Amino acid sequence: MRVAVTTPTGNVGHHVVGMLVRAGLRPRVLVREPGRLAPELRDQVDAVRADQYDPAAVVAATRDVDALFWVDPPSDGEDPLADYARATESVVRAVTDNGIGRVVFQSSVGAEKRHGAGEIDGLAHTETALDELGIDVTHLRCGYFFTNLELQLHALRAGVLQVILPLDQAMAWVAPRDIAEVAVTRLLSREWSGRCVQAVHGPADLTWREVADILTAATGRQIEAERITDDAMRAQLRQAGMTDGLVEAVLGMSTGLREDFVPEQPRTVQSTTPTLLGGWAYDHLRHRIAPSGER
Ligand SMILES: NC(=O)c1ccc[n+]([C@@H]2O[C@H](COP(=O)([O-])OP(=O)(O)OC[C@H]3O[C@@H](n4cnc5c(N)ncnc54)[C@H](OP(=O)(O)O)[C@@H]3O)[C@@H](O)[C@H]2O)c1
Repeated sequence: MRVAVTTPTGNVGHHVVGMLVRAGLRPRVLVREPGRLAPELRDQVDAVRADQYDPAAVVAATRDVDALFWVDPPSDGEDPLADYARATESVVRAVTDNGIGRVVFQSSVGAEKRHGAGEIDGLAHTETALDELGIDVTHLRCGYFFTNLELQLHALRAGVLQVILPLDQAMAWVAPRDIAEVAVTRLLSREWSGRCVQAVHGPADLTWREVADILTAATGRQIEAERITDDAMRAQLRQAGMTDGLVEAVLGMSTGLREDFVPEQPRTVQSTTPTLLGGWAYDHLRHRIAPSGER
């Protein structure tokens, strides 16, 4: 089975590549800069240089593959939804021109809304476009990645976890490695066909207060969750260098899922994955944010 993987250096993608290699495959990876691949994996994969916003490059890179793991790259531009549309055009062209019959797509909780959830609307657009192709496709509706915390190291070192959502709003938090495991299982399994939606919810729904307590216990740094206004968050994101368009798309992911939002897929045994936030934070955050002397 020939499997192509996008974002092989990304949070989920690098785990997908490693798992496919351990399953005995030699995946084809689409990468902007092959030198960024993990050194130990470089001679285990066929690396093809491709920008995912370039449909011709993606078509050329996915010839003769049976299955594709597709991630829309995170946008850093002025118009994120336009970037998601460009990525969608690439995957649609690749599937159509190369007759790829099987795709696993990294989507998000909230994509079922289709509109009104910021960047997640871009994922909804990809879902819809893939559905129209009549192929076997699984949309992984993932919860909030643990790795998003790595974007807030400065605040975490200062002991705060700032959010615009209610501090008692619970949501699914998930380890990217667990998403990769579901993706690879889906890519290799012949037990499904048609259009599928598979939620990937992590081990538990957590409120922001619970997350702060878990991080405190795991890292040794006292962390409090703090609710700030939408405008205060806007100002922070702008100060971090984001364009106005990106700021609104990022904010929209929270504001769009803030008011009475209930995910279409409930938590079930199929959507619950094992990696705990506390263990992940111990491994990945403690040495980066713990008070000196306690690392
Ligand atoms: N974060 C969440 O909570 C969450 C939840 C659900 C869904 N999602 C979706 O998951 C995706 C992003 O995941 P992530 O935030 O964990 O990021 P990520 O996968 O770590 O993204 C970075 C990866 O994208 C690659 N990349 C960026 N632009 C590219 C381009 N133009 N062509 C080819 N590769 C490109 C990077 O490659 P280089 O090595 O070349 O830089 C890197 O491998 C987005 O579609 C997002 O909407 C995120």
